[in-house]
Amino acid sequence: MSATHQLRCTNCNTRIAAESASSNFRCPECSGLYEVIYPWSPGASEMPASPVRLPNPGGMRHLWQERKTSTLPVDQSGVWRFRELLPIVRNVDRVVTLFEGNTPLYEMPRCAEIAGVDWLLAKHQGMNPTGSFKDTGMTAALSVAVERGFQWVACASTGNTSAAMAAYAARAGLRSIVFIPEGKIAWGKLSQSMDYGAMTVQLKTDFDGCVRLLLELVKRFPIYLLNSVNPYRLEGQKTPAMELCEQLEWQVPEHIVVPGGNLANSSALGKGFQEMKHLGLIARVPKISIIQAQGANPLYRWFNDTNHEMLPVKAETRATAIRIGNPASWKKAARVIEEMGGWCEQATEQEIALAKAEIGAEGVGCEPASAVTLAGLKKLVAQGRVHSGERVVLILTGHTLKDPQYTIDYHRGALLTDAEAAGATDLERSRHEALRKPPLVLEADEAVVLKALEERMATSDASMAAATSGTPA
Ligand code: F0G
Repeated sequence: MSATHQLRCTNCNTRIAAESASSNFRCPECSGLYEVIYPWSPGASEMPASPVRLPNPGGMRHLWQERKTSTLPVDQSGVWRFRELLPIVRNVDRVVTLFEGNTPLYEMPRCAEIAGVDWLLAKHQGMNPTGSFKDTGMTAALSVAVERGFQWVACASTGNTSAAMAAYAARAGLRSIVFIPEGKIAWGKLSQSMDYGAMTVQLKTDFDGCVRLLLELVKRFPIYLLNSVNPYRLEGQKTPAMELCEQLEWQVPEHIVVPGGNLANSSALGKGFQEMKHLGLIARVPKISIIQAQGANPLYRWFNDTNHEMLPVKAETRATAIRIGNPASWKKAARVIEEMGGWCEQATEQEIALAKAEIGAEGVGCEPASAVTLAGLKKLVAQGRVHSGERVVLILTGHTLKDPQYTIDYHRGALLTDAEAAGATDLERSRHEALRKPPLVLEADEAVVLKALEERMATSDASMAAATSGTPA
């Protein structure tokens, strides 16, 4: 039995030994989801004391910094570098790592101006080994699967979880099964799970239907479930909170903005910040706001419903990563907003497309689901919920190359329907026009090329100014 941690039901508070969770990671008493707790976790006082002594905050900061110069794989990982805060495996030298984490924090001055804030950064979790934030969770949960002797792992996914799981399973020599909704995930992601050797099953249903079938599978076979209901995933996914604070020299920003799909990532980051505050690593926690696509917005509806009722929706959005109508971790995410402050907003297809182009034009780029963060921030500023002087960090969750078809369709003007485009304000329309860069198709003739480019270059300065300043051209 693990002496370092237990699982606690986030609904009824029942605690169980780490190894006793059922195959679907639900509490048998109330069906709630578990979270991992340690002897030092907030509210964990009845747990037996850990045999591992936790260094003081200054000591931990120093240790984590030192590990950056180590050549050991476990130190080079941007997740396991913070291992004092996730003691979930017995033998840390045997963790499955692809050197995840260590992601860049970009200044976004043009997006800041567009959104109406003075200071805006983007923590780009799409710069992980398989191109999404899922790698930070997968290194954690897959290492647990290996330690517990599983041969097979599985997940239902909108594409990024499956890519990450397939890669980490392949590294560990485990077999993996992926359930994905047919025709509803980006090609880049589908190709990854095949490339990494997963058994890829496309089901004629949506993500929520894939989850239902997967739960039947793991009930019948000794297969380890790697969806984000697995609480160990969240232990890895909380570490970007530590890394972010470290990158900001332990100054905490006022506001973090995250996309919301199955709603595990927002919960994981919230847990990370709350634990750091509890341990004295930071003086306060930031607000966390969660942004959903308007077509897949159950948390947004919950947030604005006077009865606070959660009703699943039939999800539809081109931001396929967050095309989820019945999010498993909604209660955890709701708790994060309630405890830390923050809001839930939604973004239309037109707003997502514009925000994605704006992030791309800053030389950063991201996949559509990540762009909801900027779209949502614009609204929070306009509503007066975020003030211009607040320091804001957008969490960009996926790489722009995950969904190149979306980007190409956007720039060719083939993405949005007329009805969707009609929802844009004059300002948004002019920004779309300035940002769209369809490829020029020209005869390979000197005179033709020079003339066309001369014309384009003359108009490009004005359109660049319009794209960044927000003034119609
Ligand atoms: N952004 C991207 C790029 C994602 O892939 C996901 C989720 C999210 C945001 C939302 O995170 O679910 O924790 O709220 N993708 C999952 C998948 C569901 O299967 O890849 P969440």
